[in-house]
Amino acid sequence: MKINTICCIGAGYVGGPTMAVIAKMCPHIKVIVVDLNASRIAAWNDDNVNNIPIYEPGLSEIVAEARGRNLFFSTDVENAISEAQMIFISVNTPTKTYGSGKGMAADLKYIELCARQIAKVAVNDKIVVEKSTLPVRTAEAIKNILDNTGNGVKFQILSNPEFLAEGTAVQDLLNPDRVLIGGDTTVEGEEAIAALAAIYGNWISEDRILKTNVWSSELSKLSANAFLAQRVSSINALSELCEKTGADVNEVARAIGMDSRIGSKFLKSSVGFGGSCFQKDILNLVYIAKSYGLTEVADYWEQVIIMNDHQKRRFANNIVKTLYNTVSAKKITFLGWAFKKDTNDTRESAAIYVANDLLNEQANIAVYDPKVTEKQILFDLDYLHSRTEAENRDGVEVFEDPYEACKDAHAIAILTEWDVFKTYDWEKIYEQMHKPAFIFDGRNLLDGEMLSRIGFKYQSIGSAKK
Ligand code: UDX
Ligand code: ADP
Repeated sequence: MKINTICCIGAGYVGGPTMAVIAKMCPHIKVIVVDLNASRIAAWNDDNVNNIPIYEPGLSEIVAEARGRNLFFSTDVENAISEAQMIFISVNTPTKTYGSGKGMAADLKYIELCARQIAKVAVNDKIVVEKSTLPVRTAEAIKNILDNTGNGVKFQILSNPEFLAEGTAVQDLLNPDRVLIGGDTTVEGEEAIAALAAIYGNWISEDRILKTNVWSSELSKLSANAFLAQRVSSINALSELCEKTGADVNEVARAIGMDSRIGSKFLKSSVGFGGSCFQKDILNLVYIAKSYGLTEVADYWEQVIIMNDHQKRRFANNIVKTLYNTVSAKKITFLGWAFKKDTNDTRESAAIYVANDLLNEQANIAVYDPKVTEKQILFDLDYLHSRTEAENRDGVEVFEDPYEACKDAHAIAILTEWDVFKTYDWEKIYEQMHKPAFIFDGRNLLDGEMLSRIGFKYQSIGSAKK
């Protein structure tokens, strides 16, 4: 089957960039991205492409090229479903906050709503592609809904998890390590797989397009994220040991990373991993293992999260301890709020939890992030429900200028590894701070020797205090 119209339900961090790249690389395919969130769609359609709702290097240029040509953003979900031969489901699958599986299982209510809407609207055969990360065997549930509530048309369900990382989404989509497509082993299933593979085949070589059964594909996505997160927790566990023993975690990471069996990537010690995927997917994996009675498997993966929570908490505790056991009424400046550089995404960012701990110690938090808005920062803190909204507004001030943010601070904490922080005039910042002027580098980003020469008391993750 040759595909000429596709639609994507969900214009978020996955759906938006993925569809923009497909539209760019396949000008012969009409790509419609729909979302219930009208303001998000309006932002995708903003005349000024710099105002699209997601910041990713290279993305606004692609949207400028394809939008209105073969890339469309709309709130008209039903029309898009009925027009498309292939429908990507790219809605959010947050961790459940209620009922059974609360705090662990993925909440599939948005997925189910999509499936019901597709079933209601479709009057001809469709291929439905799971793009969102889903628990293994979700495709079965989607298929049940489609087959039992539809208009008698045929659906093929494919799993096509997205491995893009934020901040490098465009590069990852243009040049992925692999594309994974899971589908039924029936003739119709194989045809559907071939139709989706042909889309990617417009710019990705065949040997990098892996075809598996649906369950392997669903589980591979959870497994890949679990492995990546586990590496970060492993190096972070070692960072605490390094601080006690005089070893340096950067040196240890380099030494072990040069073993080609281990590899050098994802060994950067930090204040803790964040992002919308790692924690959610591991909790989901733990939940699935538990539901099959696999206690040891569940405990093994849960430890990755326990270690990550510990790393965030000990970063905050160390600030309190170092500032003579009290941060009450002291100004502590956060440079960075996003969960990593080159994105405006703050979901599960370590900054949120560190700020919350310090606010509970009555610190005044000043924040500067090149891409994150004040509204988002306050939303993130309010969402924790650990303090009232009024308390959060009292304790937090967000700045548009980093030098103003650092002025009169007792300490600076680096929470995100934005490159621009390295270029600041650190002498000027030092002059304007209370002394002793502390820097807690949660990303091992800055030049500690240079900062110590200026007069800062500099501490990084995973090396003994200087
Ligand atoms: C991740 C996966 O990499 C991607 O394949 C999947 O599709 C979605 O989840 P993402 O969350 O965008 O992508 O970012 P990633 O680069 O994996 O970083 C996740 C977190 O780990 C960030 O907070 C990052 O700062 C942290 N991290 C990463 C480290 O602390 N150290 C490292 O060495 C690498
Ligand atoms: P991700 O990072 O996985 O892309 P996001 O939360 O950024 O997740 O995006 C998911 C998007 O899906 C949101 O913009 C949300 O409004 C949208 N969405 C959720 N359910 C539906 C639905 N039934 N129809 C259309 N859009 C939906």
